[in-house]
Amino acid sequence: MAEFPRVFDDKTAYSSPLGAAWAPGRVNLIGEHTDYNGGFVLPLAVDRVSAFAGRTREDQTVRLWSTHFKAYAQFSLEGLPETFDEQRANLPGWARYVLGVAAELTRSDIALKGFDAVVSGDVPLGGGMSSSAALEIASAEAYALFSDHAFSIGEKDATLTPIETAGLCQRAEQIASGLMCGILDQAASCLGQPRKAVLLDCRSLDYRYLPFEDPDVSVVVIDTGVRRELATSAYNERRQQCEEATQRLRDLIVQVEPENEQARSIKELRDVSPEQFERFKAQLPAVLQKRAGYVIAENERVLQVVKLLEEGKIEEAGKILWIGHAGLRDEYEVSCNELDALVDIAHEVPGVLGARMMGGGFGGCTINLVRNEAVDALRQAVEQQYPERAGREASIDICRAAAGPGHVVLN
Ligand code: GLA
Repeated sequence: MAEFPRVFDDKTAYSSPLGAAWAPGRVNLIGEHTDYNGGFVLPLAVDRVSAFAGRTREDQTVRLWSTHFKAYAQFSLEGLPETFDEQRANLPGWARYVLGVAAELTRSDIALKGFDAVVSGDVPLGGGMSSSAALEIASAEAYALFSDHAFSIGEKDATLTPIETAGLCQRAEQIASGLMCGILDQAASCLGQPRKAVLLDCRSLDYRYLPFEDPDVSVVVIDTGVRRELATSAYNERRQQCEEATQRLRDLIVQVEPENEQARSIKELRDVSPEQFERFKAQLPAVLQKRAGYVIAENERVLQVVKLLEEGKIEEAGKILWIGHAGLRDEYEVSCNELDALVDIAHEVPGVLGARMMGGGFGGCTINLVRNEAVDALRQAVEQQYPERAGREASIDICRAAAGPGHVVLN
C-alpha cells in the first residue's frame, strides 16, 4: 500500500491508522430553485468525488493540503462554533467549508479530533456539479472517521442519518459561503445510489428512489467555463423574492377567502396551487409574478418527469427539460448567454432528448439527456459552435448515477 504522502514538513507522530473519506458531486435532472421553496427535486449523485486521506492528530488542529489549489490551510477545533467567524476570515474559500462542517458538528455537541489530510477529488470545481456540497459531506465523513467514533453517519443506529447530515452541511455551506442555499446539493450527495435518481420532498425531507439506468441514454454535463461572482447575491435575492411572493399571494387569497384554512397556512410557494396562482397572479408585481410562476410550474415539472420516467418514457421526460430551461432563462432569470448557447446548440442535435442549465445559474453547466449514438455529434456541435458564440471553450463530461459518501481505514 502506498504511503501517506509526506506533505506536512514537521515530525508529527500519528497514533491512528491512515484513512480516507469521500462524497460524490451531483447532477439534478429537474427541480431547480424549488428546494428552498419547500418543493421537489430529482437529483442523482454522480461518479465524481471529493476526498480526504489522512490521520488523526493528538490535538485539536486540522491541517489540510489541497491538491487542486496546491495550498495548505489550518484551523483549530477549539472554541467552535464561537471561534468560527474569526477563523473563517483567515482561511481560503475551500477550507471554509471544512471549518463550517466542524462548526456545525460541534454545535450539535459532537466532540471532534484534529487531523492532517490531503484533500483531493475529481468533481469539477464550481462547475455546477456541487463540488462544495461534495466537500462538505466528505468533511462530515472525514470527521466521523478521524474522531474515534465520536459520531457516525448512517441509516440505522447512527448519530446522524444521511438527511440530517445533509441539513447540517447545508447550514455549513450557508455560514461558510454566505449562499443561503437549499438542501438539494447536500441531500443528493448523501443519498446517492448507483443507477438511481432520488425524488426528494424538500419540505418533509421524505425521499424515494427511481431507477435511472437506460443503457441507451447518457447524462452529459457541459461546463460553460464561466463562474460569476454575482451568483451568490442573485441567488439570495431570488430567495427573498420567493418569500415576498408567498406572503403577497397568501394575503391576496385570504382577503378573498377568509375562511380558507389552506390559504391561511400558505408558508412557501409549494403551498400555492397552479390554479390559485392563475387566479391571483395579476395582482403581483411583474417580477414576483415571473419568479413565483416559474417555481410553481417547476414543481409540477418534477412530478411529470417522475411519472414519465416510471413509465419508461425518457423521450417525453427529456422534452420537459427544455421547458424548464426556458423558465429559468425567461422567468427566473438566472441563466446567461453561455448557458443559453449550450442549450440552443444541443437543441439542434438529433438524439439530444433534453437539456437545461443546472444549479444556481449565472455560469456553471448544462445537463443533457442524450442518446448514446448522438453523444459524438453533440460534442462536435459544441466544439464547432460554442467558441464562436461564447468566446471560450466548453468541457464535456459523461456521468453515471453513483453511490453516496463513505470512508475506509486503510492500514
Ligand atoms: C444551488 C443551491 C441549491 C439549489 C440550486 C438551484 O446549487 O446550492 O440548494 O437551490 O442552486 O436549484
